[in-house]
Amino acid sequence: MKVSVIGAGNVGATVAFNIARLELANEVILLDIVENQAEGKALDMWESSPVHLFNTRVKGSTNDYTKTESSDVVVITSGKPRSPGMSRDDLIGTNARIVKSVTENVIKHSPDAILILVTNPLDVMSYTAYLTSKFDSSRVFGMAGILDTARYRAFLAEALNVSPKDIQALLMGGHGDTMVPLPRYTSVAGIPVTQMIDKEKLDAIITRTQKGGGEIVKLLGTSAWYAPGAAVAQMVESILRDEKRIFPVCSLLKGEYGLNDIYLGVPVQLGRKGIEKIIEVDLNAEEKELLNTSAKAVREVMDILDNMHLF
Ligand code: NAI
Ligand code: 2OP
Repeated sequence: MKVSVIGAGNVGATVAFNIARLELANEVILLDIVENQAEGKALDMWESSPVHLFNTRVKGSTNDYTKTESSDVVVITSGKPRSPGMSRDDLIGTNARIVKSVTENVIKHSPDAILILVTNPLDVMSYTAYLTSKFDSSRVFGMAGILDTARYRAFLAEALNVSPKDIQALLMGGHGDTMVPLPRYTSVAGIPVTQMIDKEKLDAIITRTQKGGGEIVKLLGTSAWYAPGAAVAQMVESILRDEKRIFPVCSLLKGEYGLNDIYLGVPVQLGRKGIEKIIEVDLNAEEKELLNTSAKAVREVMDILDNMHLF
C-alpha cells in the first residue's frame, strides 16, 4: 500500500508520521513545493523508525509527482492555514487554485487513488477536488467531522471527568461555526449524555466545539495539526484495512438529507472502496433546520468558488 501526502506543513507532516507509526502503508510520500522541506521532514521521520519500530518507508519530494505514482490514497493538505482574525472561508481565493492544480497533478499519476481533502475551506475544497478529478464521489471526500467530533468528545470527557474513550458522538454539517453537534446521538458508555450533564453546560460545550478551530488559532497564531493529523490517519486506516468504520466525513450529497450537489459532513462507512455507504440518521425538525443552515453557509462559499470561474 502506498499513501502520498501533498503539503509537508504542520498537518501534512503529522499525517505522514501517524501513518508511518501505525504502519498503515509500505510507503508514504510527502510532497511540497518548498525546496527540500518534504525531503528533510521525511528523512527525520524515517530516522525515527528504529526507535518507533515501524517499517513504513517515508520519502520526501519537492514537487515531483512521479514519486507519487500509483498511490492508493492521496491526502491533500497543501494550502494556506488561518491566521488570527481569519475564517476558514477567507482562504478560498488562494486555496482553490492550489487544490485544483495539485489534484490535476495527483490524478495524472494515481488515477485509481482515493483522495482525502484537508485544505480549508474544507467542504468547498472537497468539491473543488471532485470537479477537477471527475472521480466518483465515493473516492473524493474531506476530513473534518472526526476532528470536530473529537473536540466535542474531549470537552465532554473533561466536563464529566470520564475517559474520552467512553464518549461516542455524532456531528454533522459543514466545517465551520455552523457545524451541528448532535446531543441526541451522544452517549457516555451507552448512557445518553443528556442524563449526565445539564443543558447549560452541554450548550457551552457545543459552542466551544463550533469555535474549536478558532480557539487553537488564537493560541498559536496558526491552525491545529495534532488532532487533524490523527483524524486523517484514522480515515486512512479504515480505508486501507477495509475496517468499514462509521465516521462523519465531508461527502457529496445526492439527495441524502434532502440536499443535492453539496459537500457536507454526514455519517458514512469507510472501507477499501472509499465511501461505501452514506448513512441517513433520523433528524428531528430542529436538527434538520440546523443542518440546512449549515448547508446554506457552505453554499455561500460555493458561490465564491463559482465566481472564480475555475471550472
Ligand atoms: P502549513 O502552512 O503548515 O502547510 C501547508 C503546506 O502546503 C506548506 O508547506 C506549503 O508549502 C504547502 N503548499 C502550498 N502550496 C502548495 C502546492 N501547490 N503544492 C504542494 N504544497 C503546497 O499549513 P497546515 O497547518 O498544514 O494546514 C494546511 C491546510 O489544512 C490549511 O488550509 C488549513 O486551514 C487546513 N486544515 C484543515 C483542517 C480540517 O479539519 N479539514 C484542520 C487543520 C488544518
Ligand atoms: C481546524 O478546525 C483550522 O480547520 C482547522 O482546526
